[in-house]
Amino acid sequence: MTVALRLPGASPARIHQALLGAGEGSPLDHDVARRLAQSAPWWPRTVQAQRRHAQRMVRHLAIQSGQFLDLGCGLPTAQPVHRIASAIRPSRTVYVDRDADVHTAWRIALAGEPNAAASAVRCDIADIDALLDEPAVQALDWTRPISVLLDDVAHFLDDETMTRLLAVLRECLPRGSTISLTHVLAASRSHPIHPVVQLYRRAGVGLWPRHLRQVTTWRGSWPAHILQSHDVLPWCAVLMRTPGPSRFLRPAFWPRAATSRASGREVAAGAPAMRPGVTVTAGRTLLGTRPPAAAVGSSRHRPGDDGRPA
Ligand SMILES: C[S@@+](CC[C@H](N)C(=O)[O-])C[C@H]1O[C@@H](n2cnc3c(N)ncnc32)[C@H](O)[C@@H]1O
Repeated sequence: MTVALRLPGASPARIHQALLGAGEGSPLDHDVARRLAQSAPWWPRTVQAQRRHAQRMVRHLAIQSGQFLDLGCGLPTAQPVHRIASAIRPSRTVYVDRDADVHTAWRIALAGEPNAAASAVRCDIADIDALLDEPAVQALDWTRPISVLLDDVAHFLDDETMTRLLAVLRECLPRGSTISLTHVLAASRSHPIHPVVQLYRRAGVGLWPRHLRQVTTWRGSWPAHILQSHDVLPWCAVLMRTPGPSRFLRPAFWPRAATSRASGREVAAGAPAMRPGVTVTAGRTLLGTRPPAAAVGSSRHRPGDDGRPA
């Protein structure tokens, strides 16, 4: 009789922790992290740079909004979003990840903080309808701005999934909301990404590095600020906000030389969106305050809701 032995697969969350120097994780995760660091010594720095950026961005966003939806949140860290935000203002955070271990780790961590205004949801963000139906997500105040975080996660999802996820988020988020993401970039001569993709793939993890132009299309007609790798590593950050009359400020912690702003027309035309000094055309105000139940692309979407002809 043959007994099939099922070994636990590598997990992006635990590989990530190993790359950040944490001791937890299986030998398999540590082995993948070690191989990554060997074949692309800049990769752990790229992961660390995104993590540092994510924490600073929460500080920036917490000044404007006290609600955070952290998609692909990863394992709990010493400086989690809810604590950073709560140090600035009363806030509410929902941590979302599809990884069962990540979810358990958050439940244990949050159980030890009975006063934390935070909850953990286990959900695949590719299933945006299921995500929006989650009680913890519904419990956010959908009449007030929400900050959605997609740090170091979008490159683990394929093009179709990301395009739809962003379209639904843009459609259903209340006025004043922001989406902040970091993303690994393709086609860097000094940092060839191919071996990294291969190593993740061999560990059973899909990785989709993209061109900046492609990442910026996800903002649709929303105004956006773009940061491209001020530390020369192949990653970028995009901060987008619902269209509207109020000023949309570039994060003060971003180095000015490495940032630009983009208008809907330029990106839609496929032109490079990275020319510094490009002016923002605040798009039409497409969004009202609407609860998640009216998400575009879902069975609940009404034609014409997103400003396009019915
Ligand atoms: C590299 S970690 C990033 C963690 C965290 N956002 C950070 O900035 O440190 C990526 C996380 O995204 C999660 N993830 C990947 N694809 C996902 C999906 N489709 N739905 C939910 N979570 C996902 C993984 O489980 C992992 O925890």
